[in-house]
Order: sequence, then structure tokens, then C-alpha cells
Amino acid sequence: MANVIIVGTQWGDEGKGKLVDLMTEFAHVIVRFQGGSNAGHTVVVGDRKFIFHQLPSGILRDNKLCIIGSGVVLDPATLLEEIDEVKGKGFLANDDALLISEEAQIVFPYHKRIDVARERRKGAHKIGTTGRGIGPAYEDKISRMGIRLIDLTDEEVFRDKLERNLEEKNFCLTHQLQDEGFSYQELFDQYRAYGERLGRYAANTSLAINHEIEKGKDVLFEGAQGTLLDVDHGTYPYVTSSNTVAASACVSAGVGIRKIERIIGVTKAYTTRVGSGPFPTELSDATGDHLRASGGEFGATTGRPRRCGWFDAVVVRHAARLNGLTDLALTKLDVLGGLEKLRICTAYKYRGNTITEYPASLPVQEGCEPVYEELSGWEEDISLVKDMGDLPPNAQRYVRLIEQLVGVEICMISLGDERSQTMMLKNPFHRLH
Ligand code: IMP
Repeated sequence: MANVIIVGTQWGDEGKGKLVDLMTEFAHVIVRFQGGSNAGHTVVVGDRKFIFHQLPSGILRDNKLCIIGSGVVLDPATLLEEIDEVKGKGFLANDDALLISEEAQIVFPYHKRIDVARERRKGAHKIGTTGRGIGPAYEDKISRMGIRLIDLTDEEVFRDKLERNLEEKNFCLTHQLQDEGFSYQELFDQYRAYGERLGRYAANTSLAINHEIEKGKDVLFEGAQGTLLDVDHGTYPYVTSSNTVAASACVSAGVGIRKIERIIGVTKAYTTRVGSGPFPTELSDATGDHLRASGGEFGATTGRPRRCGWFDAVVVRHAARLNGLTDLALTKLDVLGGLEKLRICTAYKYRGNTITEYPASLPVQEGCEPVYEELSGWEEDISLVKDMGDLPPNAQRYVRLIEQLVGVEICMISLGDERSQTMMLKNPFHRLH
């Protein structure tokens, strides 16, 4: 048995899609466990590029069971588009390869309109959401108003729930947010049709996953966003509305925590963030622009330019503890090539005090100054290197310093978008067999 969780250790966009796609070779079941269409997981296979918002990144491999857990907020329109797209390209030939939790919450157009209208009203205090209705959909789940996939498949239940929800949402949209409401019948017809199509995939996914585990199959849990966007432990309120940490995988999948063997934290060799909120190592200069251009740092979901900065070991150490990381996967090391000097943040200074653990206070997060260790860079193109020993000595030093500061071993290093551009140092799945 080798059940592995993959999570992001920064503010998302660490390159989880590629890692999950790679690791899927060793797993039988792949479970997407939180978030929704706000995520954008990029997978490159040959000259084809895929961006998955809701489908597990394992969908491109044959004979794998892909599962969407109950912790995901599901946008049926975009999910069906994704399903049609992968089918059109010859994947997901067998519909039995995809299961969606009957308990997954459904995103409606009113969630999106509320999300966008609230952001507009917040002005300078906006969170910079993806506008995909994620926060309002999770709010409905927690306030026990949410409509789940199982409800969509039952006409009577859905009719009753939608009527009660829409009454409240239309009131909120028209009276509080000065926006437009929705017509009941249109939404009902549209979502009943989605229910018809998605009902095919609806299942008790906890039962299915546990059954596979009992048979000795390996499960890979695919996180979305990143640890610093976790609603409990991130840079609140500039976070997403789900728990992005590893523990969330067990909740969403309905799997006991003792079933998990390894937890891999995906870490970009520098830091990026999209949307508002604190970012201590942000570079608002030519180096930041260089990282954005070289790393192609534009949002996979919204196309927004990502804010870029130096690697922050305080952030990743925070993530290592919150997730209980057993391994680190370092991505985009190649992007740092050509920079004469590199910096790694080891601590913060705030009003004369040194801080070594990520602070909860927003004013401290916004006002602290990074303490840097400076290293020399490298000129060589490293994108095809296969062994640690063949990396330029300065790149090796950079990698080892990250490992030492975070206190977690690096199991692989990604040096480009392609599956082949990866240095596998220790395969987390092989360690367990
Ligand atoms: P929401 O999840 O759309 O509500 O957005 C909340 C915050 O999380 C915003 O700063 C978004 O930019 C950020 N966010 C949400 N999903 C992702 C992601 O997949 N990658 C990076 N940032 C994300």
C-alpha cells in the first residue's frame, strides 16, 4: 500500500499538475480533494498542453481511476466542457474511469455573480478571487444550504432546494449587491440537464476509494491551490475558502488518516502569488519581471500576471509543519538560470525583532522585512540534466540550502514542463514497496 498526498507549499501554482501527472504512473487511483474551477493544473504531454480546472490530472493515463471527492465545489458547466475536451482528444474513453462524490457541492451562476459583485464592492480591499464562485459555494455548504450532486439527480429534492436557495440569493443580489437576479425556470432546466449527464459519474467515492485501498491499490491525492491559501492557516483573509493542507484529503475522500504514508510538498524554486495579500519576498523590480517572463508566470485560470519573488523558507517551513511533509518536490529550478545572484529568505525582521515562524497577524505579514542569504547563480542551461551531480555546483548549493532550511528531503526536481525534464532523486512510491 502506498497512499500519497501531493500539496502546494506556497500560494498555489507550484507545478502540482505536472508532478501529479508524473506520479500517476505509479498510482492506480487519483483523487482531487478540494477547491474547484479556481484551480488550473497544467500538464504537458509531447506538444500538447492541458489545463485542468476540475478533472484530476491523472485523467491522461490509461487504466487509472480518477475521483473527485466531496470537498470539491463542482462547476458542472466547466466540468462537462473539460470532460468533452479530453474525450475529444482520445482520453477518458471509458466513463467508468471517473467517479464524482455524490456529496460534492454544486456551484451555481448566482455564486459567481455574488463573488464578482462582492469583490467590486470591496474596492481596494478585494481578495482578488478568480471570480468562479468558490467562496459563496463553500459558504452555502457550511451554512447547510448547499445543493449537492446527489440533489441534482433527484428532480423533487432539487426543485425544493433551488426554490429556497434562489429566493435568498435573488434577494441578496438585488437588494444588497445592486445586481441582477436569476430566473428560476432557466436555472432549473439547465442544472437538471447537468444532473442527467453528471449522474453517470456520481458515486459513494469513500466506499470506492477504501475498496481500492483494501485491494492493495495505490492512491494519489491531488491538492489544489497552496498551503498559504488555506482558509485556516493561510494569509487570512487573502486565502481561498477551502482547507488546502494535506489533512483535507482524508476528509474529502472519506479515508482514515492512518491510510496515508507519504505527503509530498510541491515547492517552486522561487515564489509567486496571484491575487491580493501579503507577500514578504515580492520583487517589484526588473528581477521580478525577469522571473515572470522566464517562468511564464501568468495565471492558468484567469491569465493574470503572477506576482514574483525570492524563495521564502519561512513560508515553506510553515507548510512542512502544517502538512506533515515527508518529501519536497522542487519545481522550476531552470527558471533561475542566468541570474548572477540569488536570494533565499531565512527569517523576517519586524520592529527590530527576528521572526522565524510565519506570523498570523496580517499587519506583521505586511510589514515584515525578509532576512536574506545570498548565493551565486549559474549560467548553464540545466533543463536536460538528469543527475544531481551534473547540476552546476551553485545550483546544487541552492537546492541543498532549501532542503536544510525547510528540514525536508527533496525527492525530485523539475526542470521544465515536459515529463522527461525531471530529476527523480527518490521515488516516494518505490520507497514503500
Ligand atoms: P478564490 O479561490 O477564487 O476565492 O480566490 C481566493 C484567492 O486564492 C485569490 O487570491 C486567488 O487568486 C487565489 N487562488 C485560487 N485558486 C488559485 C490557484 O489555483 N492558484 C493560485 N491562486 C489561486
